[in-house]
Amino acid sequence: MRASPTLAAMAVYPFTRLDDAKRRVREAGVELIDFGIGDPQEPTDPIIRQALVDGLRESSSYPVSAGLPELREAIAAWVGRRFGTAIDPATQVVPTYGSKEAIFSFALATVDVPSGKDTVVVTEPGYPVGERGALFAGARVLRLPLLERNGFLPDLDAIPAAEWARISLFWVNYPNNPTGAVAPLGFYEELARRAREHDFLLCSDEAYSELWFDGPTASALEVADGAVAAGASGGAAAADPARSLANIVVFNTLSKRSSMTGYRSGFVAGDPEVIATMRAFRPTIGTAPQEFVQRASVVAWSDERHVGEARARYAAKRAVLLSALRDCGLRVAASEATFYLWVHVPEGTTSEAFAERLLAGGIVATPGSYLGPSGEGFIRFALVPPLDACERAAAILRDLL
Ligand SMILES: Cc1ncc(COP(=O)(O)O)c(C=O)c1O
Repeated sequence: MRASPTLAAMAVYPFTRLDDAKRRVREAGVELIDFGIGDPQEPTDPIIRQALVDGLRESSSYPVSAGLPELREAIAAWVGRRFGTAIDPATQVVPTYGSKEAIFSFALATVDVPSGKDTVVVTEPGYPVGERGALFAGARVLRLPLLERNGFLPDLDAIPAAEWARISLFWVNYPNNPTGAVAPLGFYEELARRAREHDFLLCSDEAYSELWFDGPTASALEVADGAVAAGASGGAAAADPARSLANIVVFNTLSKRSSMTGYRSGFVAGDPEVIATMRAFRPTIGTAPQEFVQRASVVAWSDERHVGEARARYAAKRAVLLSALRDCGLRVAASEATFYLWVHVPEGTTSEAFAERLLAGGIVATPGSYLGPSGEGFIRFALVPPLDACERAAAILRDLL
């Protein structure tokens, strides 16, 4: 294979291994219920689908990479409603083609390796895309483990003093894939304080921010000095968003919130200096979402009803699986938000061996070890199959274990 050395050195994307195992079991005639990959199988709300259709024009030209002004305004309005933080749609938001491409290419656009600020911090187990982007950008990667005893938050005090000056980007992802852990606002505040002290960017991947169950989760966007209580009369306009979001960049997406993985629509928001860099970089790669997708996205960010309905569906599936897992004596860790359940495998078995045992019964789940070394000892269920399939899976689990 002709490949860049960076690509050649990368391990096989772990889900490819899972796909191979699934194929073998399916060929043996077992019907699979797939909790493996976090691709929502929920319907996209009809108002969003209609907006997509209405957004089609007779002729089609290149979408501008800064995104439609009305989409940037809809996103800024959503951020204001959800987090009580005023951001400027002209200078603090860029719509993206889902969040994956933006997360991947972020290091390419922002890291200056020869300057000595050559390090990108990531957490593991985790979504591998920030790390992969860093490697393609020639950066050094520092992996921090997410451990149950720390609430699956990285232990900032365990980072050696000499490292801080080298950090360029520090990726965090809460609500977290795969652990379902949430971060308190105090964690973002502390990380933002260190980001300003050592001049790195706090990169907060908040793809699952809307899939909460016990109440809305915190965001790095709330760290802003100028954050105001949602609904405070006229307060949002008083904040100085440019100053208050210094060194903070947040990545979000409609994929999970609005069950729109196939549309490819997300955004990056935060520090205006960084947004200016992205606006300079992005025309080169040409990953602006199609205009009709952007028009549908305006409707999606402007509506909360469909999000509440999706949350209720996930809550029902979660209850079914949680009760079965507990009946089987399996201990569920974190799993406070997102559509993932992060479950301890029984003593004396490995993540992969346990996943194979479940697979033989027709249940696909992801071995935690696929998601990073600290994922060993866990298995991840993505609550994406429909409720009736979750109920069948619960019965199979009770039989099998
Ligand atoms: C943690 C995390 N971030 C980002 C993404 C990217 O989602 P999208 O590119 O669909 O916006 C995913 C997708 O699974 C994810 O799990």
